[in-house]
Amino acid sequence: MKTHLTLAALLATTMLAAAPAQAQPSPEELVNAFEGVLGPIRTSRPSHPKGYCATGHFTATPDGTRLSVAPTFSGQRVNTLIRFGVAGPNPQGASDVARSTRGLSIRFETQAGDVWEMANISAPIFGSPTPEVFVQNLAVRRPDPATGRPNQQAIDAFVAANPAVTLQGRWLASMAPPASFATTPYWGVNAFRFRGQDGQVRIARWSFEPRAGVERLTDEQVRTLGPNFLADELRARVGRGPVEFDMVLQFPAAGDDVNNPTIAWPADRPRTTVGRLMVTAVEPGPGGACDPVSFMVLDQEPGVTFSDDPTLAVRAGSYAVSLSRRLQ
Ligand code: HEM
Repeated sequence: MKTHLTLAALLATTMLAAAPAQAQPSPEELVNAFEGVLGPIRTSRPSHPKGYCATGHFTATPDGTRLSVAPTFSGQRVNTLIRFGVAGPNPQGASDVARSTRGLSIRFETQAGDVWEMANISAPIFGSPTPEVFVQNLAVRRPDPATGRPNQQAIDAFVAANPAVTLQGRWLASMAPPASFATTPYWGVNAFRFRGQDGQVRIARWSFEPRAGVERLTDEQVRTLGPNFLADELRARVGRGPVEFDMVLQFPAAGDDVNNPTIAWPADRPRTTVGRLMVTAVEPGPGGACDPVSFMVLDQEPGVTFSDDPTLAVRAGSYAVSLSRRLQ
């Protein structure tokens, strides 16, 4: 029976696993970059600070079992700890009617004790093409101590030189916010390698597609619902029956960029449904059992391993650093 790692061991292992091939910002530098803009991390996450804990289970489809030898895809029921989150500077500032990302974070725990974690967002792309640009993008937004505000000219010059940092914001601005945590797709964004039962390794990105269909807020709802309706809406929905998502893999074609998370692959690329996530209970308050978990985007070797997307190499380590600061 495998046991869960302690935070200290997790920090050590993710640092080793995240050892970059070439100089990249360290996990501490990435978390420091968040703190430069948001202030010191206290109890809430620097990303998706508002969130609600839920539980459920996941079962792979026969295609999932064929496409990945990871324990999560065995076809047996796998228990899940889930966190639905809302992006924003802090829990109070994260509004449910904002054109920002919602999060679906999942910790899969097989009956044999294998653990796999991931964090997904309600946009197909990320806000930075590389960890270096991620740090620079936050650094240029640090408030100037003299004025208490960031230097807008410096931000404009940075954005002009790095237009990829605008792509996610433009995608989010182009459509209304989700009407429910249960009616938006969530994307894993980064590409991973899947080793199938045939021994073949395939690059893929995943998404979680709502079985309830996609539904977005009307202008009237944006005006009237207020900033905190999503959790109660989800609780009421789960009270009527499980909320379900299909986990879908998308495979690139020759020439698709697999290492840049600001570029989505065209919609016509082949897709296969590899599993079904059922959300069966939502905790009553904000936070709960998912609070001390960072959903740090792990390999599940040998069935799911990191691609060469440089973002992946630093994510797990920075999540561990952030978690350790939150728990101090
Ligand atoms: C350079 C790249 C990235 C860095 C440095 C980074 C860093 C972080 C950190 C430090 C946290 C807080 C962890 C905690 O305190 O528990 C976090 C949370 C989160 N990140 Fe990232 N992240 C990156 C990329 C991404 C991408 C590509 C996605 C989209 C798939 C993503 C989605 C999320 C979500 C949904 C959460 C909230 C997780 C939760 O519910 O607890 N991040 N990120």
